Order: sequence, then C-alpha cells, then structure tokens
Amino acid sequence: MTGTPSATAAGVPSPSVDRLDRPLHDLRISVTDRCNFRCPYCMPAEVYGEKYEFLPKPQLLTFEEIERLAARFVELGVEKIRITGGEPLLRHELPRLIAGLHEIDGLRDLTLTTNGYILAAQAQRLRDAGLQRITVSLDSHDDETFKRMSGRKFGPQRVLEGIEAADKAGLRPIKINCVVQRGVNDDQVIDLARSFKGTGHIVRFIEFMDVGTLNQWDLTQVVTADEIRSRIDAEFPLEPTLPNYRGEVATRFSYRDGEGEIGIISSVSQPFCGTCSRARLTIEGRLITCLFAASGVDLRTPLRDGASDDDLRELISGVWRRRTDRYSEERPRLADDAASPPVRPKIEMFQIGG
Ligand code: GTP
Ligand code: 5AD
Ligand code: SF4
Ligand code: SF4
Repeated sequence: MTGTPSATAAGVPSPSVDRLDRPLHDLRISVTDRCNFRCPYCMPAEVYGEKYEFLPKPQLLTFEEIERLAARFVELGVEKIRITGGEPLLRHELPRLIAGLHEIDGLRDLTLTTNGYILAAQAQRLRDAGLQRITVSLDSHDDETFKRMSGRKFGPQRVLEGIEAADKAGLRPIKINCVVQRGVNDDQVIDLARSFKGTGHIVRFIEFMDVGTLNQWDLTQVVTADEIRSRIDAEFPLEPTLPNYRGEVATRFSYRDGEGEIGIISSVSQPFCGTCSRARLTIEGRLITCLFAASGVDLRTPLRDGASDDDLRELISGVWRRRTDRYSEERPRLADDAASPPVRPKIEMFQIGG
C-alpha cells in the first residue's frame, strides 16, 4: 500500500466518474455470506435457520480473484477498501487476504466492519497483516436489548472484549456502529455515547434503513439524525465538525468538552446520494452500485473465462460510467406511501455488508 495515486500509473485511464459526476472512491468487499448473529433487521432467524444453505465454496471468489479485481478498482480511483460480510471474520484465513490487499499500490485505507464476536482472537493478526483500523457494530450495552437485536442468547461482553483487543492491537480509530430503532434501543443512545466518550472510539448512530426485503421497515421506526443529535446534545453538548473527506457517510459532531466525537448516518432523513462514491463487490463477484440495488453485474464469469486486466478494468469502468443510482433520494417518490419502503426487489444486507 502506498500513497501514490493509482490513476497516474502508466496506461491506466483517469478516474471514473458516473452519470451524476460522482467519482469511484470506495470499494466494499463482502467476503462471506455467513454470520454468527441473526439480527432481525438483517438475517431474521425464522428465515435463516440452522438448515439455511449458504453459498457453496466454488461460487465464492477466491482471495486471488478478490485481489485481482481489487487492484483494477484501485487503478480506477478507489483509495479505500472496506471488508464486510455477513461476518467477515468467519472467512477462513482472512489475514491472508488482508496481506494481499495491503500490497496494492495506491490503496490508502484498508478497514473492516465486524460484529466483534470473534474479534478478540483475531485483532493482532489482522493488524500484523496490514489492516489499519476497524469498525465494530454494537447496538446496545444492555444484555436483553443486545440479545433481541443480535438474535442470539448472549449479551455484548465478547464484543466489548473484541473492541478492547482491537484497541490494544492499534486498529485505530475504532468506530462503533449503532443502528437506532425506535422502541427497540433508542432509549440507549445516551448510554452508548456516554460509555465511549473519552475513549478515543467514535460511536456512529445509524438511522434504521429499509435495506433488503425482510426487516419490515417503516418510517415510524426511524429516529432521525436531528432527533439523535438533539438528545445527545442535551446531555453532552455537541458542535459540528468538518468531514474527513468529501462523501463521508457520517456527519461528524465533536463534544464541546473535547472528549472526542460521534457520527450520525442519516440515510433516510438527509440522504447523501449526491456524493456517493461507493462500489460494492459481493462474495460471488457481482458489482453492485447501490446498497438498495436489486442485482449487479457479474465479474466472476469474465474473470474465470480468462479476461485480461484491461478487460476487467474496462468492464468495471463501463458499469461505473453508466451509474445513475440515488435510491435514498428517490425513496419518498418511489413509495406509494411515504412511510413505507418502495415495493421492489433488493439485495439483502448480509450479502453486501452495509
Ligand atoms: P468510514 O470509512 O469510517 O467513514 O466508514 P464508512 O461510512 O465507509 O463505513 P461503515 O461501514 O462504517 O458505514 C456505516 C453504515 O452506513 C453502513 O453499515 C451502512 O449501514 C451505512 N452506509 C454506508 N454506506 C452507505 C451508502 O452508500 N448508502 C447508504 N444508504 N448507507 C450507507
Ligand atoms: N439499517 C441501518 N443499518 C443497518 N445495518 C444492518 N442493517 C441495517 C439497517 N436496516 C448495519 C449493521 C452494521 C452495518 C454493516 O450495517 O448494524 O453496523
Ligand atoms: Fe450479521 Fe451484521 Fe447482519 Fe447482524 S447486521 S446479522 S451481525 S451481517
Ligand atoms: Fe449511494 Fe445508493 Fe446509498 Fe444513495 S442509496 S448513498 S446511491 S448506496
């Protein structure tokens, strides 16, 4: 991994922009469709029970295939790669992939989003392999709420141990993702903010979204960014902070007492499609250009049929140049009733990892 901008490499086209003039900057790579949690808003246990069959191995991209595709994305302007799942730490030998991605010239930021359950045992190896930082999902500190939101019979203890191990390993800054669902965990927003205030970790509160088709989303369950902000501000005064980079998903706020910052991700109440620079690669090698897409473009077949690096780069760049996605901005117009999600096929959250 170097600081050299890839787009200047010899023979490589200049960075891709889509039809709405948005550059390709981030790549999110899903490395498994499996998960050890069953969050009802993502993989409800009634649907994904013990007998549910996940994708068989031959359908999954190998590490070598992922690395080859990732290098093409970097040549097209991607500077940040985020590894996702399902639960990415369940992918056998993940540090080997991290080490391979770390070698790509031009990549500036390599990170991962995990539920943290098996993080403690892996944090140091991930760091040694070249992972720079990590994001851990944690919706509640309270045992009962955590159980309800993870669909499992345990509390958050192991996740907290995972965060501690990641901190020790130097995977900083650590971000803590908390999906806020009205009537489920919204009474714990202050508690979460308080417990990470002053630790250097950044809690990001995420508006509950209508991702996938299974979470029975409706607007009444969304606590808006404004409401989250004002609740925290009343307890711990906040001030707005400039984004770290153009197109950052979370809006940043610092604690006025200097004890760190939080982020709020307002995909429903204040969509940020206008600066969306994220591509997603599924575990089967489909290129997805929006979190709410119904499907994507198959890169695995050409890859396995002998496409050259130039062919792959041209294919990816063509998809990006044709991109017009802006689902969150269109949501109110697409739905019959503004309080419900538009009825249309959508990829499930665990297949693209957020
Ligand atoms: P940083 O690199 O640390 O700024 O984080 P990030 O925003 O790239 O990644 P993260 O996975 O932590 O994003 C947090 C959550 O925001 C995701 O899990 C999604 O739920 C949501 N999110 C991320 N990208 C998008 C997007 O493009 N559209 C929408 N609607 N939501 C997104
Ligand atoms: N709305 C908002 N965030 C969600 N996540 C999963 N499903 C949803 C949803 N419906 C979050 C997870 C995790 C990240 C990958 O996406 O909690 O932090
Ligand atoms: Fe697993 Fe994350 Fe989905 Fe929860 S939200 S079931 S932890 S992939
Ligand atoms: Fe990007 Fe689609 Fe999310 Fe809009 S809804 S920010 S286009 S991923």
